[in-house]
Amino acid sequence: GLPARVRIHEVGPRDGLQNEKGQVPTEVKAEFIRRLADAGLTTVEATSFVHPKWVPQLADAEQLFPLVSALPVALPVLVPNDRGLDRALSLGATRIAVFASATESFAKANLNRTVDEALAMFEPVVARAKAEGVHVRGYLSMCFGDPWEGPVPVHQVVRVCKALMDMGCDELSLGDTIGVATPGHVAELLTALDADRVPATALGVHFHDTYGQALANTLAALQHGVTTVDASAGGLGGCPYAKSATGNLATEDLVWMLHGLGIDTGVDLGRLTATSVWMAGHLGRPSPSRTVRALSHQ
Ligand code: HMG
Ligand code: MG
Repeated sequence: GLPARVRIHEVGPRDGLQNEKGQVPTEVKAEFIRRLADAGLTTVEATSFVHPKWVPQLADAEQLFPLVSALPVALPVLVPNDRGLDRALSLGATRIAVFASATESFAKANLNRTVDEALAMFEPVVARAKAEGVHVRGYLSMCFGDPWEGPVPVHQVVRVCKALMDMGCDELSLGDTIGVATPGHVAELLTALDADRVPATALGVHFHDTYGQALANTLAALQHGVTTVDASAGGLGGCPYAKSATGNLATEDLVWMLHGLGIDTGVDLGRLTATSVWMAGHLGRPSPSRTVRALSHQ
């Protein structure tokens, strides 16, 4: 059966904006986050404490975070290493996410490390975060296919998932970074994880919509007991270190499907759509979300 409620993990301000070429003013980012919270999203991934040269768009994390930290929503931030954790903790962040890769090619491109070197980099970060009472999400990228390596074997994904759980992550997010997954593959991975004692209750799913499969994949995940779904307002996004990655599943498309299924999200679709139209104005191009276009006659 399907869940009665789904928690949407909104990644627009982070995954959505990280690949944007033109610098988005810090105050516009803050207003984006405020509007998302106002639309009923309870988890809004705010920014990343990564090396500013690697993701220049998010180099204003120190200026942005204090502008939104008092909002009554969870505001996770990406943290790759000790330096990133220092920066996040000094601003009072209470939720972080480390981000691993299931493939060697992407680990190298995104973190300048092998898969296992990256895990070794995260281990002290997760331990210190947990000791500070900070909630830790573990992202895992390239769970289905990799632009350099092709299809990714399920056992390879399961191994890194288990390593992240053993490290002490509170939840994992399974990333289809380049959007090549299809529902059968999603079911296969979730079944394998469950058999290896990584239950769906500990998992979120993170679909990019490159091939238009994100909603179908989400439905497959819900049927397997997943209740946390990542999405990006207006379908913004893409990873700068993964060629062929397009935007995430649009939050509006997700909300349309979930509400149609009678699944509660707490999100006001009208307010959310208005937010994406407002953001599209700042970015200078229409939202790629079908639902945003349909509801706004954009
Ligand atoms: P590196 O070059 O190996 O860094 O990069 P290093 O550890 O050798 O340090 C080099 C210098 O960087 C040092 O400075 C450090 O202090 C500094 P120096 O001593 O030379 O003056 N440094 C930092 N400065 C500020 N903040 C930090 C930091 N760390 C080191 N945190 C590193 C390694 C991990 C830093 C780099 O590869 C990096 O920042 N990568 C981030 C890439 C990224 O953010 N990608 C996008 C997010 S992942 C994603 O989008 C996928 C996801 O959405 C899921 C999916 O779709 O699959 C999550
Ligand atoms: Mg992503």
